[in-house]
Amino acid sequence: MFLDKRTFPTVATFFVFSALQCLSPAAGAETFHQYQLQKQGKAYELVRKTVAVPEINAEQILVKVHAASLNRRDIYVIQGFYRGPEANGKVPLSDGAGEVVAVGSNVTRFRVGDRVAGTFFTNWNGGKFSAAALASARGGAVDGMLSEMIVATEDSLVKIPSHLSYEEAATLPCAGVTAWNGLFKAGDLQAGEYVLLEGTGGVSTFGLLFSAAVGAKPIITSSRDEKLQKARSMGAIGTANYRKNPNWSDEVLEITGGRGVDHVLEVGGEKSLPQAMKSLAADGHIAVIGGLSGFGASLRTSDLLFRSASVSGIYVGSRADFEAMNALIEKHQIRPLIGKVFSFDEAPAAYEFMQHGNYMGKIVIRMDK
Ligand SMILES: NC(=O)c1ccc[n+]([C@@H]2O[C@H](COP(=O)([O-])OP(=O)(O)OC[C@H]3O[C@@H](n4cnc5c(N)ncnc54)[C@H](OP(=O)(O)O)[C@@H]3O)[C@@H](O)[C@H]2O)c1
Repeated sequence: MFLDKRTFPTVATFFVFSALQCLSPAAGAETFHQYQLQKQGKAYELVRKTVAVPEINAEQILVKVHAASLNRRDIYVIQGFYRGPEANGKVPLSDGAGEVVAVGSNVTRFRVGDRVAGTFFTNWNGGKFSAAALASARGGAVDGMLSEMIVATEDSLVKIPSHLSYEEAATLPCAGVTAWNGLFKAGDLQAGEYVLLEGTGGVSTFGLLFSAAVGAKPIITSSRDEKLQKARSMGAIGTANYRKNPNWSDEVLEITGGRGVDHVLEVGGEKSLPQAMKSLAADGHIAVIGGLSGFGASLRTSDLLFRSASVSGIYVGSRADFEAMNALIEKHQIRPLIGKVFSFDEAPAAYEFMQHGNYMGKIVIRMDK
């Protein structure tokens, strides 16, 4: 839907406009709270708003959001670094989970009471990535999940695994799907293979949990020994401290008996890609995902061709990928690692903690806490 900003400054304003015509009785409330991004120079600040509960049309679903989670991308967005359309007035955070409270008459995939999570891209059901999908990323291009309620299409929701809480399910859409995509779809991970994970943030801890669950051999790096110890308790067969040893590929090679790893979830970027390449076995695969130390990394072609190695760029994944990941999570009863939970009122503190705090795994915001 295109809104002329001169007439409708924000999507929230559109909600107000709709709500004035007809309130949704299923919502049980006339207003709810959400945060919006408000431009401040090049960056944004979080502004809390009270908006009216919208009426849904025949194709739409009203979701009461119980929890949302942060990704590194949300920091890039609020700092104004993220490549993409203007986010002014948009609701932040791509990830969240909640409960269906109303469905339009043409909705077939969901019913009131279903437990759901939003997909990262609202317009990528499956198949190849496209420009249309790119323009549909929640929490940047379109409204995100830091809102007590959202209106969604059925294409942009998935049912969540039954053993997960809303807090746990809220961590899945970006970091979980990205790790799953890099390991299983782009990488075709098999039991017994070595997997390299960098740092103990969201994508990497999902990579650790997934690879341990299927009988692969995860090796993980961190700047802190206590996190490496925790990672061992989660299934890591080997660890290296990248701060103590900048040439940590030596340790990875030693752990693998000189063979190297079959898969890398490359989130470290400039500083880590050369080490990841040195750690790679013949026929290995690098899933290029992030740039925690900068996005300007480059590869030597000879490093790839003499290994017959492959590299894939990963951008989260489709709804079909999300559903396939959920099947894996259900099968192995995997539980995401949550580092810290904040209340809705504490959302700015959650952002601050993600930038400067010491955590492993995911940071969650609980709406009704
Ligand atoms: N392409 C995609 O679709 C996609 C999807 C998700 C994320 N990403 C990107 O992937 C990266 C990771 O995202 P995330 O949300 O998982 O991050 P995150 O949760 O914020 O990860 C933070 C952790 O990363 C580790 N770290 C920091 N600097 C590092 C470095 N130079 N080398 C290795 N590890 C480092 C630290 O672990 P220790 O404290 O253990 O040292 C830190 O605690 C980001 O660049 C993000 O933008 C891309």
